Amino acid sequence: MPAALLAATARPRAVPARSPARVATVPRPPPAFASRRPGRAEGGGRHPAAASASPPRRASRASAARASSSADDDAPPPPPARVAVFVSGGGSNLRALHAAMLDGRVRAEVCCVVTNLPDCGGASWARDQLGVPVLTYPAKKSDPSSGLTAAELVRALEVEHAAEYVCLAGYLRLIPPELCRAFERKMLNIHPALLPAFGGKGMHGMNVHEAVVRSGARVSGPTVHFVNEKFDEGKILAQAVVRVDPGVDAAEDVAAKVLEKEHEIFADALGALVDGRVEFREEDGVPIVREGRG
Ligand code: GRF
Repeated sequence: MPAALLAATARPRAVPARSPARVATVPRPPPAFASRRPGRAEGGGRHPAAASASPPRRASRASAARASSSADDDAPPPPPARVAVFVSGGGSNLRALHAAMLDGRVRAEVCCVVTNLPDCGGASWARDQLGVPVLTYPAKKSDPSSGLTAAELVRALEVEHAAEYVCLAGYLRLIPPELCRAFERKMLNIHPALLPAFGGKGMHGMNVHEAVVRSGARVSGPTVHFVNEKFDEGKILAQAVVRVDPGVDAAEDVAAKVLEKEHEIFADALGALVDGRVEFREEDGVPIVREGRG
């Protein structure tokens, strides 16, 4: 595998000395977020229009405070970042992210869950165990009232649930462009292979692992990347590698090994992002993770 694929793991570590110094952090936002919290919780489906005309600026004072809190021991602890998690399946990544939030590895909380399949394991767990609102997107074609439109989704996330970040944790539908724009550099996806290989159209679920085994590749592993309007083409933030033995491993074996790593690196990558430890290389926007808080 090309060494470049491994350049940006999310495990806290120093930026390599050879990296050019020209990086830009996420712009410091205006002091407007801290008091903004969702006006009400709801159990999903279509939501009434919120009263405010202008959506809040996310990731503002709170993320700036998280970024600097290790430098200023006297400062009050910043509020946890608010993360919307999208699911379509069993929700093991959602549970892993939540566990990392509970044990302090990720300074965040799940503010809501979004799904295209309201009965999937992840959505059920979010409703029954986590007790957070579950929104449905998109609606079924046969029943437009069964879910949100793209504009309603963006508004629900920004205004009603005050989401600062989005994690796509096994969400199998296309993300609307307006959501990509609203959460530029704030939305992460986990893909179960080493992008840019084994990505793109049709590359989801077991298809990915079957393609890896068919190819004879000796390694695979998850990729956490930023989401943009091009499927699986956002900048890579973190990757991990698992061995694939073509004489031994079936697609199911590869899937199990990769999933275990997904749970580690997704939490690490989100932790770095909400801490403000992700910088973007100026010339091409490649994200670089700064050393973690002590
Ligand atoms: C994971 O393999 C993820 O990479 C893929 O879908 C699967 C979701 O698993 N996009 P889970 O629902 O988090 O258990």
